[in-house]
Amino acid sequence: MEDVRERERERERERIKRGKRREYCSRKIHSKNYLKFSEREREREIWKEEEVRDGVLRVQQLLLQEAAKELAKVYTCSRSKANLDRCLHEWEGKGFHVSGSVCDVSSRAQRERLMEEVTSIFNGQLNILVNNAGITIFKPTVDYTAEELSTVMATNFDSAYHLCQLAHPLLKPSGRGNIVFISSTAGVMALDVGSIYSASKGAMNQLTRNLACEWAKDNIRVNSIAPWFIKTAILDPFYQNSNFEDHARARTPLRRIGEVEEVSSMVAFLCLPAASYITGQVHVIDGGATINAFYPTHD
Ligand SMILES: NC(=O)c1ccc[n+]([C@@H]2O[C@H](COP(=O)([O-])OP(=O)(O)OC[C@H]3O[C@@H](n4cnc5c(N)ncnc54)[C@H](OP(=O)(O)O)[C@@H]3O)[C@@H](O)[C@H]2O)c1
Repeated sequence: MEDVRERERERERERIKRGKRREYCSRKIHSKNYLKFSEREREREIWKEEEVRDGVLRVQQLLLQEAAKELAKVYTCSRSKANLDRCLHEWEGKGFHVSGSVCDVSSRAQRERLMEEVTSIFNGQLNILVNNAGITIFKPTVDYTAEELSTVMATNFDSAYHLCQLAHPLLKPSGRGNIVFISSTAGVMALDVGSIYSASKGAMNQLTRNLACEWAKDNIRVNSIAPWFIKTAILDPFYQNSNFEDHARARTPLRRIGEVEEVSSMVAFLCLPAASYITGQVHVIDGGATINAFYPTHD
């Protein structure tokens, strides 16, 4: 009788032990699921927050969140001190770490001075160089003066070329350098924006391919962005023609002019580790304009 009771007590102890093990396992599985679940929830929460903005901004905000980890500090320049101070003040208010100085990038001496400042601020190491400065002069080719030719080429192309040369010793030690040129669709197709402007952007696109190959061994990626019409001050002369926007839309499958954020988000993307296998490319941002032959752009 005592043996029977002892065996029952033994079986009970076993049951309790097994039960505890089961409970422990299920808690472990549950907590693992809970972690996964809460991560998914967190992602959803981020998306929810972003969804209050429109589609473009949502994407840009996500990219900026990513870029903020990469682009901790930014240095910029302008020809005008007033412009520069206004922008720096605005960005400071948004919590961005941006500094800058006055520089006319068409001047070789000023480019050198600019990069000396950059070298000192970033302690001799730079992750990203964006060549954005650009101007155009609208004229038929036969009317350009030698001075106009030099001014457009010096601002759009010489500056970008020389800044790449000056930035190379800073980008190389970074181990993940990035150069982004802001080119134009005028560099890949014939647009009536002035042949010198188009030639300067075409040269930029070829430089992108050369540098991508020449500096790949230094872990520097080089890409070019070629926007179609984007709403900025550079379009002011176009808007003097009241038909401009209709004319542009008539060539654009997406039936509209682009927004600045649709270009800046691409700059951010190209500099992220997510784009680590993309180099030497000219990325058109054009609402489909460069691939449209005969599809109608009006309903
Ligand atoms: N908007 C478009 O439709 C479009 C299309 C294709 C390509 N892009 C290209 O996008 C880039 C940005 O132009 P945006 O559309 O923003 O036009 P934007 O409003 O006229 O801006 C031009 C920018 O270039 C800077 N810049 C011009 N000359 C300079 C110089 N000598 N030294 C230093 N900075 C100089 C200006 O700075 P400060 O005035 O402050 O000196 C300004 O930040 C340009 O390269 C342009 O060719 C624009």
